Formats: sequence, C-alpha cells, structure tokens
Amino acid sequence: MKKAYKGHVIFTSESHKFDVFENSYVLVEDGKVTGIQQQAPEGMDVVDWGDRLIIPGLVDLHFHAPQFPNIGLGLDKELLPWLEDYTFPTEAKFKDPAYAKDVYSAVVKMLWRNGTTRAVLFSSLHGETTDILMDLCHQAGIGAYVGKVNMDRNTPDFLVEETGQSIADTKAWIDRTGDKYPMVKPIITPRFVPTCSSELMNELGKMAAEMDLPIQSHISENLGEVEWVKDLHPEFDTYADVYEGHGLWGDRTIMAHCVHNTNEEIKMMAKAGVMAAHCPNANNNLSSGVMPVRAFMEAGCKVGLGTDVGAGHKVSMAQVMSQAVQMSKLKWLESGKQLAPLTTAEAFYLGTKGGGSFFGKVGSFEPGFAFDALVIDDAGLSAGGQRSIEERLQRFIYCGDDRNIITRYVEGKELNEPNF
Ligand code: GUN
Ligand code: FE
Repeated sequence: MKKAYKGHVIFTSESHKFDVFENSYVLVEDGKVTGIQQQAPEGMDVVDWGDRLIIPGLVDLHFHAPQFPNIGLGLDKELLPWLEDYTFPTEAKFKDPAYAKDVYSAVVKMLWRNGTTRAVLFSSLHGETTDILMDLCHQAGIGAYVGKVNMDRNTPDFLVEETGQSIADTKAWIDRTGDKYPMVKPIITPRFVPTCSSELMNELGKMAAEMDLPIQSHISENLGEVEWVKDLHPEFDTYADVYEGHGLWGDRTIMAHCVHNTNEEIKMMAKAGVMAAHCPNANNNLSSGVMPVRAFMEAGCKVGLGTDVGAGHKVSMAQVMSQAVQMSKLKWLESGKQLAPLTTAEAFYLGTKGGGSFFGKVGSFEPGFAFDALVIDDAGLSAGGQRSIEERLQRFIYCGDDRNIITRYVEGKELNEPNF
C-alpha cells in the first residue's frame, strides 16, 4: 500500500539540527517511509494536511503504568520514602484485574492523547495484570515494551516475591505474551538493585540472554539509593558493575535516570551500548538532581527521554523535551559552563529518534523508517504572524498540548481514539 502525506514535514535525522521540508509529501509504502519530495507524486493517494506540521511520533522510554493513580501526588518526598509511602501501596492494588483494567485503560488513552506512539512501560510484579496492559497497548495500536516487575527483597510484605516464584512467573508471562502481538513485546524488568537479590538478577540476566529479550531498570537516581547499593554489594566497585556482573548490561538495556553516575560508569554505558532514559520531571520532583545529559552524549552514550510517571507529573513527551532543555541550562551554570545546554533540536531528537532507536528504525522520516507520525495543528498557539516551520515546532514543544495533536499514525496506520 502506497500513500503520500502532505504538510510541513519536520524531524531530526541528526541531533544538532532540524530537517525541514515545507509543503512537501512524505511517501509511505507498507508503513515505511520511502522518501520526501516537493512535487506531487503520481499514482498515489494523497492525504493533504494543508498548513499543519507533520512530525515523528513521540517516544517515552520510561513510564510506570500502575503509578498513574498517584500522578502529581506525594512529590514532596525523596525517592526512597516516596516508594515506601506512595508507590508500593498503590502498585499492590494491581493484583486485582478489574482495578488494573480501569487504570491501564486510562493510561493507554493518555499515551494516545499525548502523541506517544511508542513506549517502554513498567507494570507491577503481577504477571496476569501485566497481560492486560499489553493487550490494551495492542488494541490502541501503540508500539510498546512492557515489563512485569521483579522484586524479592527490601520491600514491604504486601509487595514482594519469593525468588523462585518470581522467576517462574516471569517465564510463564513471557511464554504467554512473547509472540502474541506484533508491536507489543515483553521486557525483562528487575526493579532496581536494592529490591532484587543476586540470585534473582542472575536468573533474569540468563533469561534475557537465552530468550533474546531486552532489559530495563533504574540506576543512580538518588544519592541515598547509590549509598544503599554500595552497602548491599561491597563486592562490586560501582552500581553499574552490579548490573554488569549479573548479566543485565548490554546493547538492549535501558537504564533510567543516570543522575549520579561516575565518569567510569558513563564510559561503561557507552561501550556496552546501554541506553540512558533521561527523566527530567521525575528528577526535579523527587529532588534527585540534574542528569548531566551532555556528558552522556559527549561520551557516545545512547540517550532517550522518559516521563517516569508517577515520579514525573506529565504524560506529554513534548513537555519532557522542554523540561530537559530547562534542566540542562541549570547544569550548564552549575558545571561552570562546561556542559553545554541542550538545544531544542537535541531535545526533540532524544524524544524521537534517540529513544526510537530502541525500537529499530523509529523516530525519523528517513527512508526505511516506520511512518510513526503526528499531525500538529498549531493555529491556536499564536496571535498570527509568519513564523518558520522550526519556530512553529519549537512553540508547540513549549506551549502546545494534546489539543494540538489532531492525528496519530504508527507504521502508517492511523490510530483512532481507543474506545475502552
Ligand atoms: N527506583 C526504583 N523504583 C522506582 C520507581 O518506581 N520510580 C522511580 N522514579 N525510581 C525507582
Ligand atoms: Fe522509574
């Protein structure tokens, strides 16, 4: 199936600049971009979006679906008390399929509404209700990796697994869901080192290798957490070494936060191809610190962006982009102007092609990339006057919201509003 989409096309094939094609046609065949041109294509259906912007779909690399009921709450605490007081009691409720279905329906609708076309999600430790979240993503047409969480130590009695059971439940869940959906797949998800025993981490590392599965977790978000990991694992030099030593460190691993990593750890991430998920809202809300995102980029590390709902208070990846730029400016000053702030183009790249690379050729409109796209109607965002396409996108990122997103596509398929 061939189709062309006409509008003002803008994306970032590289991080340092926008690629802009004014009044142009994106050519799409079988869900993939084949080219962009200014002249009208012959023999193709054209969808004409007029004066609207056509941008890549947004990619959220880190989102805790069962924390959505707490969004915007409890944020006067730091990470560890926040987990104990707010997060763990809420996640425990996801044993109940009816409750899970209600909340996860709302989550998937919110992702759709905010133009998130690909997402990497945590569920809770409950295998059965993780299936519900996967099914809803599939029904909505969103591409997703979804992780049943593993945790077998240092958590309350109402939210803990016995090690053997955790491994058995994870295997059963992967057997059920591994091949079930074309665009929704399982991801191995040890919560973080403090809540996973060595035995559990080793088994999950083996499972990921044997079943060829990606991995996600958290690293060095909060200074108290980093100290705790040192106490728990004196046999390792660094937090990153703990993950590496348990087989959880490779080019299909995402590590969220990376606020307090050492330079050695940053080099380890770049070398192994571990992707950093930068979650600026969450780091701000839980007083965790400011990730030196420039240092990761300069070291050649793969980087994407995440909302980290519920520590993050917004589902919008456009808002996360502007927050990433704003926090990088604080880091620039704090570093004595050593770590240059992110540009808007760089933040856009991180939230599209950067994070999108975890899904393959996603997040750009170069030939061969999936046609994951949003149509942006920004007519209501200014008081008129001529602006460049780049300025119009910048204004959407800073001032727009879901009301400006009028259509979403994934792999060339238009996504209707989920009817659940
Ligand atoms: N570290 C371990 N679990 C979590 C979580 O749920 N949210 C955040 N932000 N950090 C974590
Ligand atoms: Fe998180």
